[in-house]
Amino acid sequence: MRVAMFGAGYVGLVSGACFADFGHEVTCIDKDAGKIERLQSGGIPIYEPGLDKLVADNVQAGRLSFTTDAAVAVRGADAVFIAVGTPSRRGDGHADLSYVYAAAEEIAGLIDGFTVVVTKSTVPVGTGDEIEATIKRVRPEAMVAVVSNPEFLREGAAIEDFKRPDRVVVGAEDERAQAVMRELYRPLFLNETPIQFTGRRTSELIKYAANAFLAMKITFINEVADLCEAVGADVQQVARGIGLDKRIGGKFLNAGPGYGGSCFPKDTLALVKTARDYGSPIKLIETTVEVNDARKKAMSQKITRAVDGQDLAGKTVGVLGLTFKPNTDDMRDAPSLDIVPALQAAGAKIQAFDPEGHEARRMLGGVDFKEDPYDVAAGADALVIITEWDQFRALDLDRIRAVMATPVMVDLRNIYKTEDVRARGFRYLSVGRT
Ligand SMILES: NC(=O)c1ccc[n+]([C@@H]2O[C@H](COP(=O)([O-])OP(=O)(O)OC[C@H]3O[C@@H](n4cnc5c(N)ncnc54)[C@H](O)[C@@H]3O)[C@@H](O)[C@H]2O)c1
Repeated sequence: MRVAMFGAGYVGLVSGACFADFGHEVTCIDKDAGKIERLQSGGIPIYEPGLDKLVADNVQAGRLSFTTDAAVAVRGADAVFIAVGTPSRRGDGHADLSYVYAAAEEIAGLIDGFTVVVTKSTVPVGTGDEIEATIKRVRPEAMVAVVSNPEFLREGAAIEDFKRPDRVVVGAEDERAQAVMRELYRPLFLNETPIQFTGRRTSELIKYAANAFLAMKITFINEVADLCEAVGADVQQVARGIGLDKRIGGKFLNAGPGYGGSCFPKDTLALVKTARDYGSPIKLIETTVEVNDARKKAMSQKITRAVDGQDLAGKTVGVLGLTFKPNTDDMRDAPSLDIVPALQAAGAKIQAFDPEGHEARRMLGGVDFKEDPYDVAAGADALVIITEWDQFRALDLDRIRAVMATPVMVDLRNIYKTEDVRARGFRYLSVGRT
C-alpha cells in the first residue's frame, strides 16, 4: 500500500518507519523543513532506541522517504495518516486541533481517487466528524473515508509497541476503509494481534479512556505511597501484593514523583474538558489531574526536608535524569520541569546530568550540566534521582559518597534498596518506603 504520514514526530516517524518495515511504501511529510532535511541526510531528530537502524534500512530499501511537499506524498496514496501534535490549548485544557485541521485542509486539496484519511493523533470525540466535514467542504466530490486509529506506543519502547501491540483499534464504519486498514496491519493479523473495529467516536474515546485510566493508576499508587510513609508500610510490597491480583495487574504501580510526558497530562485535561462539555464530568480524572499537579510541586519540599528541613540557600543539589522517563529525549511536562525550578527558587544551585539531555539544556535555565553522575555528585549536598535511566541503577555508591559535600540521596524512583544505601553511610529518602 502507499501511505502518506503527516507529521514526522515521535508517533509519525515511528509509525511511518514501521509501516515501511511491514512492506508498505511510506512518505513522511513535515512542516518543519529542518527536521525533513535532517531525515533526508540520514539523521534522526529524536532519540528512540532502534529507530536509526529501522529508518536507515527502510530508506535503503526504497520504502521510506521524507518530504515537505505534501502533494508528492498524497497523490496516489491509499491511506493518508494524520500524526501531528495535539497539545493542550492554553486556558481551558481542550486539545488544540489547529494542526489536525490544517493538515485535513491540505489533504482535501490533494487527494485523488478513493482515499482513507486516518487520524493517528490523539483527538477528542467528534474530531473525525469535523475532519470529514472539512474535506467535504474543500472538495465536495472527494471519495474519502475518515478513520480513527489511535496510537498506543510508549516512547522508549515505541518500535516494539508498534510492531507487537496489545491491540489495534480502528474506528471505521466504511467497509472499503476497513479493508485498507486490514491490509496495512496485515503482519499483525498474522501475529494474532487483536484488531478491534469500532465506531469512530468510540475509537476516539478508547484512547482517552486508556490514558486516563493509566494516569489514575499511577496517581493511586502515589497516594498509597504517601500513606505508606505515614503509617510505616512499604509501597513496593503493597504494589506487588495488589498487582499479583490479575484484576488489578502489576504494571503502572511504581510510585514516583507524579506522571509527566507528552500524553498523560494533556490527555487527562482534554478528557476532563470533553466530559464537562457534554455534561458528564469524570470526577475521578479531575481529581487525578489535581493530585498529580500538587505532587510534582511537593517533590521539592521532600528534597528540602532531606537536606536540612529549612531552605536550600547556598546548597548544591545534584540531579540525575531530567527527561520525563528513561530512553527518550522528550521533556514535555517532565516532572523535572517542576522540581528543578522549585529547588532553584528555594536557593539551590543545580548541577545535573541526563544521558539524552540536549532538550533539557534548552528548557532548564541556570543549571550546570555535567557529563556523568559522578561529576553531578561532586560537592553536592544532596543527590536526587528524578528519572530512572539504567545507568543510574548501579552507581558506585562509595565513590559518590566520597565526592559529595554531604551524603544525602533522594531517590524519587525507588531504584535502590534502603538498607544498601544507608549501609554506605547515606541519609536516604525514597517514595513510600520508610
Ligand atoms: N509521543 C507519544 O508517545 C504518543 C503516543 C501516542 C499518541 N500520541 C499522539 O500522537 C500525536 C503526535 O504526537 P508526537 O509526540 O508525535 O508529536 P510531535 O510534536 O513529536 O510531532 C508532531 C509533528 O507534526 C508536525 N506537523 C504539525 N503540523 C503539520 C502539518 N500540517 N503537516 C505536516 N506536519 C505537521 C510537527 O512539525 C511535528 O514534527 C499527538 O496527538 C499525541 O497525543 C503520542
